[in-house]
Amino acid sequence: MKKLLVYLKGSRVQCVLAPLFKMFEAILELFVPLVVASIIDKGIANADQSYILKMCGVLVLLGAVGLAFSITAQYFAAKASTAFVKRLKHAVFARIGRFSYEKLDSAGTSTLITRMTGDMDSVQNGLNLTLRLLLRSPFVVIGAMIMAFTVDSKSALTFVVVVPALSVVVFGIMLLCIPLHKKVRSALDKVLCTARESLVGARVIRAFCKEDEQVDEFNRRNDALTVIQEYTGRISALLNPVTCVIINIGIAVLIYTGAIRVEAGIITQGAVVALYNYMSQILVELVKFANLIISITKSVACAGRISAVLDTEIEDPHKGEGVINGNSESLVEFRNVSFAYAGSGENSIENVSFSVRKGETVGIIGSTGAGKTTLVNLIPAFYRASAGEVLVGGSNVNDIPLEKLRERIAVVPQKAVLFKGTVRSNMLWGNPDASDEDIIKSLEIAQAADFIAEKQGLDTPVEQGGRNFSGGQRQRLSVARALMKKSDILILDDSSSALDYATDAAMRRAIAENQGDTAVFIVSQRTSSIMHADKIIVLDDGVADVGTHEQLLESNAVYREIHLSQFDGEVSA
Ligand SMILES: Nc1ncnc2c1ncn2[C@@H]1O[C@H](COP(=O)(O)OP(=O)(O)O)[C@@H](O)[C@H]1O
Ligand SMILES: [Mg+2]
Repeated sequence: MKKLLVYLKGSRVQCVLAPLFKMFEAILELFVPLVVASIIDKGIANADQSYILKMCGVLVLLGAVGLAFSITAQYFAAKASTAFVKRLKHAVFARIGRFSYEKLDSAGTSTLITRMTGDMDSVQNGLNLTLRLLLRSPFVVIGAMIMAFTVDSKSALTFVVVVPALSVVVFGIMLLCIPLHKKVRSALDKVLCTARESLVGARVIRAFCKEDEQVDEFNRRNDALTVIQEYTGRISALLNPVTCVIINIGIAVLIYTGAIRVEAGIITQGAVVALYNYMSQILVELVKFANLIISITKSVACAGRISAVLDTEIEDPHKGEGVINGNSESLVEFRNVSFAYAGSGENSIENVSFSVRKGETVGIIGSTGAGKTTLVNLIPAFYRASAGEVLVGGSNVNDIPLEKLRERIAVVPQKAVLFKGTVRSNMLWGNPDASDEDIIKSLEIAQAADFIAEKQGLDTPVEQGGRNFSGGQRQRLSVARALMKKSDILILDDSSSALDYATDAAMRRAIAENQGDTAVFIVSQRTSSIMHADKIIVLDDGVADVGTHEQLLESNAVYREIHLSQFDGEVSA
């Protein structure tokens, strides 16, 4: 939490000026009851009309100057809090962008979105209120008490009882509410998560006729949210009636004792009115203060959640000295590599060793869940090997600065992801300086040039996630984007799964023709996609067998089975 204060740094001056101007305003306010008292005692008592008018002028002036101070304070507070949240958003967004793969596996999108939006608004609001009111309210309360004592110390003794009683109520309720607000937030997260899943998965939900269950689930979570919200609401709703009862008893006592003392000629009528006014001021300020505390505790809970994002483990950028030697004996080498995902007891990759030279093509095959994606994700150090070494250009990937490592590797992930924009803007991710000719060349290799030409060429719009393209088109565009990078290592993770055999073959042929020194990893479930590779890695439950097509047909039963099943399939098809 305290860590967030760093982001206030640039707004220090505003953070001092806002409360300061609010104090000026408060001081003016404390004089109002005295002016009113003197109107009663001097103006009305002596029927002095010009004095009354003059004092009314003073009241208007106090009001006007107070308003000016208040607006100034508001300005500084708003400025400081928006600047603070802006800096904070930058930091959180940057942090999320650098989450380690392990964290990306476990972080929930919807809670991250609430943290970036609702929580941020709440923090901004809380800071604004804090700057303006946190000091002002106690200042007015104490100031009004002191003023009451200067008016009539005996009558002011009522204040000594009423103010602490009110404070106990205010702080008691505040302490009860802090943990409740946290619960409300996490219940809200759950509701949002279900809502999001229902929207994203609407088609699947319908296909499986799960609408009713999904609605039930939503209702259950929504009900849970309502229950906790109502409970919290009830407790915070106690605040106003309880404080009002206390303060009204105080005022009754004040007027009663005041009346007796006026009767005895000890104090004036104006003094009683002034005391009453101070009591009302205290009431108003304490109620404001209580509401303020509730808003601030909400904001503090939100700030805590934001702070948790900033504390999340991020990818270690590998500050090592390792360099990629393009001429080393092997460009990529696995030495007895094992890997287990966090929280999973089993190894997804078990003692894998192989090496790949530049210009070579490697096929990786195996059933789903065999560990193909896991294996290729170790090369750009998306995850780090649990045991053994992954070397690129002769250096352990853990020692190579991440940026240096990844600029040499182009990955087409299993799930093709495109970004909102145009085909051109997406292709430029691979190489920001590329010309249109370069882009078209890559699109041609990836067999994407034809369908793009039929649309609006490079200016074809891409909707969010690429949803205006078919699965196979998305895959081809992702491949083209990776080709733009002209990397030393190209990884295609099941990137032609949605393509027909002919297009798949044409794409592989074109990639091979333009391969040069690039080492290409092709992950596939079809032997036809990889049988011509220089090296084939067959994965079976994380265990690897390496060889050529012919060797593996001889020696590896799993490979033979996959091949024969598909070969038969093709012939009979
Ligand atoms: N992010 C993850 N967290 C935990 N386990 C995972 C994760 N990704 C994959 N696995 C597990 O690792 C194994 C290998 O998965 P994967 O490499 O994706 O297989 P393939 O790409 O061959 O289909 C599977 O048993 C899968 O359940
Ligand atoms: Mg996979």
